[in-house]
Amino acid sequence: MTLYRRLLIYVYPYRYRLVAAILCSVAVSGTTGYAALLVKPILDEIFVARDTTRLVFFPLLVVLLYVARGFLLYGQAYLMRSVGQRVIRDLRQEMFAHLQGLPMTYFNRQHTGVLMSQIMHDVTLIERAVTDAVSTGLRQGLTLLALIGVAIYRDWVLAMWALLVLPFACLCIVQLGRVLRRLSRRALEHVGALNALVAEVLGNIRVVKGFGREGYENARFRRGNEAYYNVMLRSVRTDEMRSPIMEFLASVGVAAVVWYGGSQVIAGTTTPGTFFSFLTAIFMIYEPLRRLSRINSTIQNALAAAGRVFGLLDTPGEAAEENGKPILPPIRHGLAFNNVSMRYDPNAALVLDNVSLEVPAGNVVALVGTSGAGKTSLVHLIPRFYEPESGCITIDGRDIREVSLASLRSQIGIVSQDVILFDDTVRRNILYGDPQADDERVMAAAYAAYAHDFVMQLPDGYDTMIGERGVKLSGGEKQRLAIARALLRNAPILILDEATSALDSAAERMVQHALENLMKDRTTFVIAHRLSTVRHADLIVVLHEGRVVERGCHADLLATSGPYRRLYDLQFRTQELASDG
Ligand SMILES: Nc1ncnc2c1ncn2[C@@H]1O[C@H](COP(=O)(O)OP(=O)(O)O)[C@@H](O)[C@H]1O
Ligand SMILES: [Mg+2]
Repeated sequence: MTLYRRLLIYVYPYRYRLVAAILCSVAVSGTTGYAALLVKPILDEIFVARDTTRLVFFPLLVVLLYVARGFLLYGQAYLMRSVGQRVIRDLRQEMFAHLQGLPMTYFNRQHTGVLMSQIMHDVTLIERAVTDAVSTGLRQGLTLLALIGVAIYRDWVLAMWALLVLPFACLCIVQLGRVLRRLSRRALEHVGALNALVAEVLGNIRVVKGFGREGYENARFRRGNEAYYNVMLRSVRTDEMRSPIMEFLASVGVAAVVWYGGSQVIAGTTTPGTFFSFLTAIFMIYEPLRRLSRINSTIQNALAAAGRVFGLLDTPGEAAEENGKPILPPIRHGLAFNNVSMRYDPNAALVLDNVSLEVPAGNVVALVGTSGAGKTSLVHLIPRFYEPESGCITIDGRDIREVSLASLRSQIGIVSQDVILFDDTVRRNILYGDPQADDERVMAAAYAAYAHDFVMQLPDGYDTMIGERGVKLSGGEKQRLAIARALLRNAPILILDEATSALDSAAERMVQHALENLMKDRTTFVIAHRLSTVRHADLIVVLHEGRVVERGCHADLLATSGPYRRLYDLQFRTQELASDG
C-alpha cells in the first residue's frame, strides 16, 4: 500500500488527465447503458407502432451513439496510457539523475547491466499498474459493486448465500498476489543478471573471441536464461491457478443459491422467475470478479518493479549531505593528508594505513611503488570518490568533507589510469573538460597533449567519431585525448595516474614536456611507473602496502639506498636487459 501511495505521488501532476480519462470511461459505460435502453423504444415505437420516420431516425442515432462511443473509448485509453507513459518518463529521468549521484562504492557493488535493466525494463512494468489499475480496475470494481447491490436489493438472504464465497475469493486473490509478487521480484533479478552478462560479454568481446570462450559464455547465459525461464513458468502457473480456484468458488456460490433458492421455490416463497433472474445476476457478478483477479497479477508485477525502482531511488546519493556546505575557494596554501586510513570493504585489509602527507600549493608530488601499493586509491580520495575510514584530507586547512562536492571537484583535473572516453567526436571528448571552451582552446589543448597531429589525420579531424570507449583509437592516442581533456579543464589540482603509460618512450618524452608545462603553477599528483618521468618532482613518496615507506627528492632518495633506490635499480637493470636483448 505504501508503494502504491508513493506511485500516486508520481501520478499527481497528471491528475486532470486522469480525471478526464475516468470521465471518459464513465461516459463509455453511459453509452453502453443508453444502447441497452434504446432497445425498448426501438421495439415498441418502430415495430409495434409502425412509425416510418423513426425508422430513419433510430438507425442514425445508433450510428451517432457508436461513433461517440468509439471516440470516448479512444480518449479514455489515450489519456490513461499517456498518464502511464508520463509517470515512467519522470521516474526514468529521476532514476538516471539519481544514479549519477550515487557514491563510487555503490558502483563497485552493483553491476552496470543490472542498473541498466532497472532504468529500462523495470519502470515499464509500472505503467501497467497505473493504467490497468485505474481504468480496468475502476470499471470492473464499479460494475461489481452495482451488481452486488442489485442482488442484495432483489433478495438479500439469497444474496448472502451467493456471496458467502466472496471472502474466500478475496483471500485467494491476495494470497496468490503475494506469491506472484515474490516470483516477479525474482524474475526481475534474473533479467538484471542476464542484462549484466550480455553487457559484460559484449564489452569484452575481444577477450571472449581471443580466448575462444564463446562456449563457456553460452553456458553461463544458458544457466541464467534457464533460471529466468523457470521463475517465469512458476509465475505463469501461479497466475493461472486463479481460473480453477475462481471457477470452483463460483460453482460453490451457485450451488448454494440453487440449494437455498430452489427450496424456497419448492416451498412457494419465491417464483421461478425471480429465482432465475437472481441466478443470472449472480453469474454476472463472477465475470468482473475474475477480471479483477487478473488485474491483481499485473499490479503485483508492477509493485515488484516499483519496489526495486524505489529501492534505487532511496539509496542515498552523494548530494544527501550537501546542504548548505560552503564553496571551496581555489587552493592557495596546500593540500594535506592527515593520518588517512582507508579500506574498500569493512572486512577487507587496509588499503591505506595512516598516510600523512603535506603538499604545498604548486608543488609536484610523485607517488611511486609496486602495483597494488595503494597509489590510485590515495589520489581517488582527493575528489572524494571514496571516503577515508579515519583521518582527513584538508585543502588550505579545511576538511574536504566540509565543502561542497561540486566546488571541490571543479578544482581537480584527472587523467585516470584506465582511459575513459565517450562514443562521440574528438572535439566533444576534449570539450568534456570544459564545455564552454572555443575551438581555439580545444586545439591548443590537443596541441599541448601532442594529439593535434594524429587528430588531423583522422577522416573527419576533430569531428571524427571515436567509437564506443574510443575503440577506433590506439591506446596512446586515447591517452593523449584524455590528457588534452584534463589540460582544457585548467584546474588548480592535477592528478595524473599513469597518464603516459600507453605511450612509447619517444611520445612520452614529448608529452612529458607538455605535462611539465602544465604542472607549473598547479598542485600535482603524479603516478608513473617509469621512474625517469618523476625525477623532477618536488617530493617523491614511496608507498608500500598502503604505508609511506620513504619520502624525499630524487637525489636524496638515491643516495640513501632505500626502497626507492631498489625500485630504481630494478628498473634500470630491466631497461638494460631490454636494450641488450
Ligand atoms: N574498487 C576496489 N574495490 C576493492 N579493492 C580495491 C579496489 N580498487 C583497488 N583495490 C585494492 O586496493 C589495493 C590498492 O590498489 P590501487 O590503489 O589501485 O594500487 P596501485 O594504484 O598502487 O597499483 C589493491 O590491493 C587492490 O586490490
Ligand atoms: Mg593504480
